[in-house]
Amino acid sequence: MAGRVQGKVAVITGGASGFGAATARLMAAEGASVVVADLQDGPGRQVAEEIGTAAVFVRTDVSVEDDVATAVDTAVGRFGRLDVMFNNAGIVGAVGPIDEIPLEEYEFTMGVLLRSVFLGMKHAARVMKAQESGVILSTSSIAGVMGGLGPHVYTAAKSAILGLTRNVAAELGPWGVRVAAIVPGNHATAMTADVSVGDHTAVERAAEVFRERKTPLRGRAGVAEDIAQAALWLASDDAGFVSGTALVVDGGLTTGSREAAERGQGTFGARKPLIRQAGLRGIG
Ligand SMILES: NC(=O)c1ccc[n+]([C@@H]2O[C@H](COP(=O)([O-])OP(=O)(O)OC[C@H]3O[C@@H](n4cnc5c(N)ncnc54)[C@H](O)[C@@H]3O)[C@@H](O)[C@H]2O)c1
Repeated sequence: MAGRVQGKVAVITGGASGFGAATARLMAAEGASVVVADLQDGPGRQVAEEIGTAAVFVRTDVSVEDDVATAVDTAVGRFGRLDVMFNNAGIVGAVGPIDEIPLEEYEFTMGVLLRSVFLGMKHAARVMKAQESGVILSTSSIAGVMGGLGPHVYTAAKSAILGLTRNVAAELGPWGVRVAAIVPGNHATAMTADVSVGDHTAVERAAEVFRERKTPLRGRAGVAEDIAQAALWLASDDAGFVSGTALVVDGGLTTGSREAAERGQGTFGARKPLIRQAGLRGIG
């Protein structure tokens, strides 16, 4: 049986680790050729070698235009086309109170998290418009849709990715190019292991922490493969009428139903007579 992205060619930034590595492996298993683009040489090469002849590693700093252009050109040069651009590389970046963040930390963080996505879209578009097909995916975050979930600059970048996604989708639709964002919640990867347990290699311990955090889907930590599956679907022809959208993959966290998630014990969880005049006499 043909794979779900059989014959397609993908560039995956941040492909050395976490979401990117899981997506590279899954897309390759589903028939794609992949360019693993990452700043980390050793782990990036390892992912590509593990996949075999359907993968190549390109050392890429996603905040540098020439590097992003080279990753895209490698896809075309080595595999003949570019069907999927996954702008996924990321860092946590500047943290701390808004009145204390140094400007250079803001600039650096925006470079890695937002300029990178702009560059990925720009260079993918130059190939995909000529091809009259393709899918551009970018990794946002639940910090981009709700306040208070991430550092300020990270949140700004991840919100902006959603706006850019909609705008570029509107522009590229006539060329048959789809553009979408993925909005992860808490998933155990090197980045979140570093933040949650202070050790980027302790991905399984991070998963334990996330398993205990209350999302409506109990006892289940987000993992990298959840994002890989979302990227696979969005990249595949099964999602052929999906563009401009942001697919939230967060175990229900941003439904805001943490309280109600106590098996019907939240304010509105238990069955009560119809509340007709809550505004007049309070709820309940
Ligand atoms: N893990 C989560 O819970 C979560 C939630 C929301 C969003 N995200 C986003 O998902 C994306 C992937 O993160 P992850 O969780 O897989 O983390 P990860 O640390 O496992 O992977 C991130 C990868 O990006 C690469 N990278 C960092 N800076 C780079 C640069 N300048 N150029 C090229 N590569 C660079 C790293 O080398 C690494 O391989 C990021 O954009 C992150 O912000 C993650």
